[in-house]
Amino acid sequence: MVTVKIDGIEVQVEPGTTILNAARKIGGEIVPPAMCYYSKLKGSGGKCRTCLVRIAKNSAQNPNPAPKLVASCSTPVADGMEIENITSPQVLDARKGVVEFLLLNHPLDCPICDQAGECDLQNLAFEHGTAQTRYEFDRRTFEKIDIGDKIQLHMTRCILCYRCVYVADQLTDNRTHGIMNRGDKSEISTYIQNVVENDFSGNVIDVCPVGALTDKTFRFRSRVWFTKPYDAHRNCPKCAGKAVLWMQGKDVLRITGRKDQFGELENFICNTCRFDKKNASDWTIEGPRHIAKDSVIGQNLQLHEKHLSNKVPDYDNKQRLLS
Ligand code: SF4
Ligand code: FES
Repeated sequence: MVTVKIDGIEVQVEPGTTILNAARKIGGEIVPPAMCYYSKLKGSGGKCRTCLVRIAKNSAQNPNPAPKLVASCSTPVADGMEIENITSPQVLDARKGVVEFLLLNHPLDCPICDQAGECDLQNLAFEHGTAQTRYEFDRRTFEKIDIGDKIQLHMTRCILCYRCVYVADQLTDNRTHGIMNRGDKSEISTYIQNVVENDFSGNVIDVCPVGALTDKTFRFRSRVWFTKPYDAHRNCPKCAGKAVLWMQGKDVLRITGRKDQFGELENFICNTCRFDKKNASDWTIEGPRHIAKDSVIGQNLQLHEKHLSNKVPDYDNKQRLLS
């Protein structure tokens, strides 16, 4: 095991562990944000630069700092390494710059985007973004593409994180899409429509950190914060059958995989569970799903509760309204 310090907190990890995963072992707010890294997808990471950190001391043998900030998702730790994330003004400043870059071509259409409330980029901008943009040019735009009847690609919102490409590559047996061209001409290739044939293609929706890949069976049916998420499972011959049902009353509006505290799926789920089991009776409901307080959807729920508590001081009444 090697010992490293992140923002002054010591942790022991296996040699070869990345700085990001060492930070995840500690947990809490010192964990750098990650828009492209996905621990369950091999080769992911190193694309978005949101996870930049400062190495203040390279190792016990080499106490010099690294000459520039490094991507924590793809930099392995060394024994005695000291890393700064939220304690470094340089890192926080660079992260602001990265958010600004990610938003250069990303439309500011949260009010009409289905991903709003659970969008990693929205959360990131909420925490690290600035209120104004310095960008004076037209954002690039694309026509929406239907990927079969269940998934829609809105390339205009894509931040080119490659996660959907890795899902298609590693979970489906016949990848037919990828990222074409370079620089600001890069885009998901035209062959993406064909990926829908596979049983696990729906996972591209869950891994997409923005609203570029959305569930057509849910689009515009409700804002996500007006639905109630429940953990549920079923006996599925294809996948673990563990999912989240997003319900309004008795109606199941949407089914997704379960995400952990880092926003990654605990298990990939199959398209049958995701798209074809929209009756609550298809599932054993375990109980309400916990929503992270620091997400935009969590903020909305808190504001909603605060609003109710201001208007309705009586606790029972408030619970009735929230239920
Ligand atoms: S469509 Fe979504 S998952 Fe795919 S590269 Fe773009 S942002 Fe990433
Ligand atoms: S999460 Fe590290 S570069 Fe994207």
